[in-house]
Order: sequence, then structure tokens, then C-alpha cells
Amino acid sequence: AVDISQLRASTGVITLDEGFVNTGSTKSAVTFLDGEKGILRYRGYPVEQLAKDCDFIEVAYLLIYGELPSEEQLTNFRKKLRRHTMLHEDMRLFYDGFPRDAHPMAILSSVVGALSTFYQDSLDPHDKAQVDESILRLLAKLPTIAAFAYKKSIGQPFVYPRNDLTYCENFLQMMFSVPTEPYEIDPDFVEALNLLLIVHADHEQNCSTSTVRMVGSSNANMFASISAGISALWGPLHGGANEACVAMLEQIRKDGGNVKKYVDMAKDKSSSFRLMGFGHRVYKNFDPRATIIRASCEKLLAKRNIDDPIFDIAQQLQEVALNDEYFIERKLYPNVDFYSGVIYRAIGIPVQMFTVLFAIGRLPGWLAHWREMHESPSKRICRPRQIYIGHTEREFVPLEKR
Ligand code: ACO
Repeated sequence: AVDISQLRASTGVITLDEGFVNTGSTKSAVTFLDGEKGILRYRGYPVEQLAKDCDFIEVAYLLIYGELPSEEQLTNFRKKLRRHTMLHEDMRLFYDGFPRDAHPMAILSSVVGALSTFYQDSLDPHDKAQVDESILRLLAKLPTIAAFAYKKSIGQPFVYPRNDLTYCENFLQMMFSVPTEPYEIDPDFVEALNLLLIVHADHEQNCSTSTVRMVGSSNANMFASISAGISALWGPLHGGANEACVAMLEQIRKDGGNVKKYVDMAKDKSSSFRLMGFGHRVYKNFDPRATIIRASCEKLLAKRNIDDPIFDIAQQLQEVALNDEYFIERKLYPNVDFYSGVIYRAIGIPVQMFTVLFAIGRLPGWLAHWREMHESPSKRICRPRQIYIGHTEREFVPLEKR
């Protein structure tokens, strides 16, 4: 790697790398990934091990603060998080204003952005105590904001957080319990959700994380930066791919299950269709997260005796694509989104909430990067250059002569 930050703009040297394919935007100690070998580590720990032995809050602590917490640190962290799970009552009013069919990602980014209007006492990016307070507020409130968005979309009353439950249990009860009946939290669903959140927790300089860093680099507050990250995640080429992937699998099923037809369509350069859940900017091998999720998916479906035709289609599609020259040549493998949707369906999470779940999972990564950037002595505002390809100077033509 060549460090070109030493070259000043006055030298006239500009590197052009559209889509930042080979451009490092920062040095980072949060996540290591090797796309050729299919390795992913958070703060040095293999994601496979964290997914097996940790709960999501432990992983969040690790990502944000750099070390696995001691028992005491973890207990304290959980205790502090529990203090922040409620939303300010006035924030409920926002939900009245959104249309019933609003996408929950739009609600999520709006309400998160609006946190900066309610929690003005923790907006200073240079005050460590305020930064910690905002971290707690975001981690604790995001599931509440998300579950309220879902309840709004189905016309049910909001369910308040319960602090006697774990992070994942609490989220499931806010999503699915109703005042009229008791709700039993399914431990298999809690386990699967915990694992999904962990594998999504960070992925170095992806589009949404780079957005969070970019916005944060101007010293915009943490709520504003995270809201921008949520918007970036929403796109179908990024976090929105899990929703698009299940929609595609449904479409294939309705169309008679002819997976070959869709593989051929994806290869056809005259069409814009792509196999959703396939390919990755960095992984040119199996996405290790997809491997973990696939195993969890199989386990959950078998244990619960769920026969989901979408899962069968996914398996057939993977089989055909992985043996196709086009996909082999381009090193296009299933990514994390390929199986996550099948698990979400098994848990009963509706399609439009899939990307919201991704956002809840990715939040610790965004926070870790935001914090890392602000603590870096070499932090500068992100301000890329360009190669101008427009007109040279032109003579102005007055309106009446155009
Ligand atoms: N289906 C068919 N062809 C594909 C696919 C796909 N899913 N993905 C890439 N290709 C092809 C491209 O058409 C291109 O072919 P060409 O060289 O003949 O022009 C080649 O593979 C390289 O693809 P790029 O678009 O240059 O790869 P890039 O790194 O820019 O894009 C991306 C990566 C966006 C993930 C892409 O693979 C894609 O669109 N995948 C489908 C959407 C998806 O699953 N996104 C989730 C990403 S993971 C995440 O966000 C958690």
C-alpha cells in the first residue's frame, strides 16, 4: 500500500478510483477481512468463534471499546443500556405523522436523526462522556424505534421495552407481543437472532460505515452520522439486498421454480437483473458469514420442522450458480444476505423489516468506526477530489438569446 496522503493537492496529483475499489480511506483497528481467503475477524477474534460463544452486546462492547469486556464491565454495560431503552414519549408523535405504508428504513433513519433534537446533552463529538452517552442511547433505543415502526405498519399498539429481558428477547417481545395475549419468547429464535446480529456487526469500510465516517468527519453529531449510515444501508446493492433476495426467491417460486432461467437472466448483459445475495466487493471466495448463517438456517428449519420452499429454491440456485462458468470466472459466491432472509422468515419477521434488522446488527460497527475516527490524531474532514470532465470556460448567453 502506498500512503498518498503525503502528496499535497498542490502537486496536482489526483488518484481516480471510482467506487473506491482499491482506495483505503483510513487506517483502522476494528475489523480485519481477507476477501480472497474468506476471513473475518472483529478486533482480532474470528467471527465464527464470537458467533458461537458470545452474545451480541458482548460483541458490541468488543467492537466499540476494542477489548472483550470483563464480567463486571459487561454487567455494567448492560445495566446502563437498560436505562436507555425507552423513547421520549413525544417521539411517539412522529409515528402518527408517517404514512402507514412507509418503509421502516425511512422511519428508522428519520427517528434516529431526530434523536439529536431530544438528546441535545450528548451531541459534542469531542466530549468522551457525551460520546459514551450517545452510544448507549443509540444501542438501547434502536430496537425500540424499529419495533415501533413495525407496530405502526400493522396498526397494533406499541409495546414498550422490558428491561428484565436480554437484548434479543426484548426486541422479539416488542415486535410480536400484543396486549390481549401472553407472548412466549422462543429460545431458538433468540439464538438465531443473536447470531444474525453478530455476523452483521461490522464489515470494515463498507458503504454505510464509510458514510458514517464521512458524515462524522465534518464533526456532525453521532445521531446525524448514524442516520446517514442507515440511509446508505437501505439501498438494494447494500443492506437492502436481503429484502431483494427473498423477493427474488419468491418470484422464482411463483414462476415454477426454474432457477436456471434466473441464472441465465443474471448473466445476460443486456438486462440489469442480478442474482441478489450473490457477489461481493471484497469476498472473492465464500463469505464466511454466509457459511455461519447457512448452518444456523438449516438447524433452525430442521429443529422447528419448517418446510420453507424458499430455502429449497435458495439451495438449488446456489447449486446451479456455483457450477456456472460466468459465476466461477467472476468469483461470485453467496453473500451474507443469501440466507439471512430465510432465517428472518422462520422467525416471523416480515420482509420489509429485514434491512432494519441489518441496521440493528451493524450499529456497533458504525459506532466503533465513528469513535475510532474521532480518537485518531490524524483525523481530517473527508473531502475527495474529482477529475473534471465538463466544459472549459464558455461565454454566457443571456436568457432572451437562448
Ligand atoms: N449477478 C450477476 N452478475 C453479477 C453479480 C450478480 N449478483 N454481481 C456481480 N456481477 C458481475 C457484474 O455484472 C460484473 O460482470 P462484468 O465483469 O462482466 O461486467 C462482475 O460480476 C463484477 O461485478 P461488479 O458490479 O463490478 O462488482 P462490485 O464489486 O462493484 O459489486 C455487488 C458488488 C454490489 C455486491 C454486486 O456483486 C451485486 O450487485 N450483487 C447483488 C446484490 C447483493 O447481493 N448485495 C449484497 C452485498 S453484501 C452486503 O451488503 C451485506
